[in-house]
Amino acid sequence: MSALIEFRDVCKYYVMGDTTVKAADHINLKIEKGEFVAIVGQSGSGKSTCMNIIGCLDVPTSGEYYLDGQNVGQMHKDQLAEIRNRMLGFIFQQYNLLPKLDLLENVEVPLMYAGVSRTERRQRATEALERVGLGDKLRHKPTELSGGQQQRVSIARALVGKPFVILADEPTGALDSRTGREVLAMLQQLHKEGNTIVLITHDNSIAAQAERIIRLEDGRVVYDGDAHAPEATVHPKEGGAV
Ligand SMILES: Nc1ncnc2c1ncn2[C@@H]1O[C@H](COP(=O)(O)OP(=O)(O)OP(=O)(O)O)[C@@H](O)[C@H]1O
Ligand SMILES: [Mg+2]
Repeated sequence: MSALIEFRDVCKYYVMGDTTVKAADHINLKIEKGEFVAIVGQSGSGKSTCMNIIGCLDVPTSGEYYLDGQNVGQMHKDQLAEIRNRMLGFIFQQYNLLPKLDLLENVEVPLMYAGVSRTERRQRATEALERVGLGDKLRHKPTELSGGQQQRVSIARALVGKPFVILADEPTGALDSRTGREVLAMLQQLHKEGNTIVLITHDNSIAAQAERIIRLEDGRVVYDGDAHAPEATVHPKEGGAV
């Protein structure tokens, strides 16, 4: 059986005048259904590049990307949008909620794109918001909530379409440490329930919440394994454990 996510020699190059930036440099990786993986690395190491490819927001310059056995790496925009909507749920650092819409409407957005009927949308969005503890705020606007609560809305929105993969890019980056821990606990709970989670972070202590760490440096994988092995938290450039 093939992996849920598979990169085969994935490269992403940006040509800037005379120089070529290798944002992803021959990356090979496989993520199986139900895994909780953190992609870590310092600023500029290629984390967002990988996230954009995994999330079908961008395609590799060369190499192949298979999502659930389909070669999505070379698809065109419309096909990518369809796959993205059907298979992926996103959580971003800045929540990306729509300020004019209430919580229910925000969470319904992916279902609207998926063509789900109004009644079913309402029901599923209500359930998703109840699940993240916001069942009493369905008609509030995002600006009436705390940062942690807004991030919970974005988790509800990521979940509501029953995605194959939940992709979280620095989901705790804008939160204080206690609220950040609550959001991470929620991701762990979703993992226990069988969801596949890919968490992108530059922070080792956050990455340690996952079961597996993929560490990037200059667009290359320099570690891929158990999140709790001693070598998982070594910065190769600094040569010491954190
Ligand atoms: N659109 C672009 N055009 C040119 N270079 C880019 C572009 N996007 C990314 N890069 C370069 O590719 C490399 C990897 O960038 P990427 O955004 O993936 O890093 P990152 O690990 O997400 O960093 P951060 O932690 O700062 O978000 C960097 O050197 C960056 O400057
Ligand atoms: Mg980034």
